Amino acid sequence: MKRAAELRGLSDDHHRGLVQARRLQRAASGETDGLSETARAFLDFWQEETSAHFRREEEVLLPVLARYGGDLAREPLVEMLVQHARIRGLVMQLSDEVTDGDARPETLRGIGELLEAHIRLEERQVFPMIEETLSTDALGEVASRLAVAEAGAGAATGRQREGGEDEAASS
Ligand SMILES: [Fe+2]
Repeated sequence: MKRAAELRGLSDDHHRGLVQARRLQRAASGETDGLSETARAFLDFWQEETSAHFRREEEVLLPVLARYGGDLAREPLVEMLVQHARIRGLVMQLSDEVTDGDARPETLRGIGELLEAHIRLEERQVFPMIEETLSTDALGEVASRLAVAEAGAGAATGRQREGGEDEAASS
């Protein structure tokens, strides 16, 4: 089934996430050089994109589903949230390892495999369930709330940058 237009932005994020997940797995098995460069690039991607992507799913997608009678106790949704927490935990671990100059292949592999499985779960089970459950109007609400969340995130990033410049200027 073709992805609903309202969920396409999140699906596009998934495609980029898959590329990163496979890159981590290749670096972990020694197929490419640069364990620590790959880890650093992933942590940048995490900060810029995936962290906010998880929040949008948790703060917009699932609450709108709940609002319109979706059963949040269904297995793929529970599994999705468990995976979010597990991936966040592994990213904390990787971040500490990179800080210590010791990015371990097991950690890169763990994140790569879990992120890939997670994206597959959302694309194959969670999103189709949401498309089936929500009416056109409810999907429209998802889209407009996602747009607000994205605009807010953009503004916050802009404020951070401005703050950084001020600090640099005053020092
Ligand atoms: Fe996702």
